[in-house]
Amino acid sequence: MSLKSVVSLFVVTASLIIPVFAGAAAKDDIAARIAPIGELCMAGDECAAAAVEVASGPRSGEDVYSSKCIACHGSGAAGAPKLGDAGDWSARLGKGTDTLYTNAIAGFQGMPAKGLCFDCSDDEIKAAVDYMVSNSQ
Ligand code: HEC
Repeated sequence: MSLKSVVSLFVVTASLIIPVFAGAAAKDDIAARIAPIGELCMAGDECAAAAVEVASGPRSGEDVYSSKCIACHGSGAAGAPKLGDAGDWSARLGKGTDTLYTNAIAGFQGMPAKGLCFDCSDDEIKAAVDYMVSNSQ
């Protein structure tokens, strides 16, 4: 038997034997690797019992302000009246709260409709206006 055939016999034998030993552990590894990334949770399944918490009720004026309006009204960007700046707000307050509500909801010059909070209800926008006004006097 030539050296070449001894080597190739060894390679063939090893390739048949090694997987047998590796097999059991490898199967678990493979199962883990090809497992689905997410699992579907159907209503009634145990996993569905831990329902995702849905935000309940309207957001407060402060929440809306801090997540949306602050982008412009925090810094006064584009001429937005700044929170806490009584001078910026005094002329606006003269228009009356209803006008401020309407302009915040429908948009007014540089102020985009609803301050770009597209999922805000009118009441949430009004609450955010109230929050800014009451903190700017
Ligand atoms: C993209 C920037 C931007 C965002 C975001 C924004 N505003 Fe404004 N807002 C402005 C600017 C600019 C003005 C000043 C408009 C003018 O007088 O020309 C303004 C003015 C206002 C006024 C005064 C309107 C008036 O009649 O004088 C109110 C009230 C107001 N914004 C409420 C809000 C509320 C509430 C939010 C968040 C839900 C918000 N804004 C988000 C830019 C923004």
